[in-house]
Amino acid sequence: MLQEIIKQKLEEVKNLSASTLEEIEKARIEYLGKKGLMNDLFAKFKEVPNEQKKEAGVLLNELKTSVQQKIEQLKETIAQRQEELKPKEDLTKPADLLSLGSIHPLTTVRKEIIDIFSHIGFTVAEGPEVEDDWHVFSALNFPPEHPARDMQDTFFVENREDGNNVLLRTHTSSVQVRTMEHNQPPIRIIAPGRVFRNEAISARAHCIFHQVEGLYIDKGVSFADLKQTLLYFVKEMFGSETQIRLRPSYFPFTEPSAEMDISCTICGGEGCNICKHTGWLEILGCGMVDPNVLKASGIDPDIYSGFAFGMGVERIAMLKYDVKDLRQYFENDIRFLNQFAATI
Ligand code: DAH
Repeated sequence: MLQEIIKQKLEEVKNLSASTLEEIEKARIEYLGKKGLMNDLFAKFKEVPNEQKKEAGVLLNELKTSVQQKIEQLKETIAQRQEELKPKEDLTKPADLLSLGSIHPLTTVRKEIIDIFSHIGFTVAEGPEVEDDWHVFSALNFPPEHPARDMQDTFFVENREDGNNVLLRTHTSSVQVRTMEHNQPPIRIIAPGRVFRNEAISARAHCIFHQVEGLYIDKGVSFADLKQTLLYFVKEMFGSETQIRLRPSYFPFTEPSAEMDISCTICGGEGCNICKHTGWLEILGCGMVDPNVLKASGIDPDIYSGFAFGMGVERIAMLKYDVKDLRQYFENDIRFLNQFAATI
């Protein structure tokens, strides 16, 4: 009887298995192909007596769908297995390049300044960023009412009854004092470091920036020594064609005091936007150490004299790299920093 054969085939289909796509195709042809079992059974269906046709028809359709489903299911199982066997990563692929960081332009410039001065015998000195009034102001001959001692200009940490308030250093000149307190001449140091001022942040000013202080104390040190030292520095830093000029100025801790300009690094002195058509750019303050400052730190001004200077690292780096906005040094924008990748 046809129904019996179909039932038997239904069982057979349930247990159908295949481990390759070829085996599945073979089974498909065997069941669903033109000369396959299904067509064979449909042909036999015509001979089934009418009263059994309904039952046989239902079974026949059931068999057909179960064959189709089984074949799909077997295909899926094989595809899944192949997917699992595929290597997850192509181990022969070349490795992705690690993106390397680069040295910050301010670090490069600071190092350059140190290198230049170390060639003429200056060593690096350091001092604390959290300082007291004595080392930042009093020992440097600042009068009690000097505006730098005002809250407007200085970040105070602690007010002390004796007036020796704790504050964030506003310049690295404080390291001069500490060095002279602990050493006798000859003293020849530069002091790079961070300084803090209560300033609104703009393209030209920041509340945190970097300075390098210089100090040379010995017998018979003159203004000519200062000028020659700075000329050497400038030629090393900005190129041998660079000129300097010193303008009289005032700082409480030096007498006489001067500000130093260099010939414009952009136009070479012709006059341009950067130098505001003067041909000169101001880069540092300097002078002969005031005898009061030597005395305050325990050095006899009748025996020794010396010079000092202080410069802003950001300012030098801005001129060197033609950076127009100081804030870029602190924003850590990768697009800005990447431009200095070659300096590693
Ligand atoms: N301390 C000064 C400032 O922060 C810079 C300076 C000027 C330092 C003259 C010096 C100097 O040693 O002699 O603006």
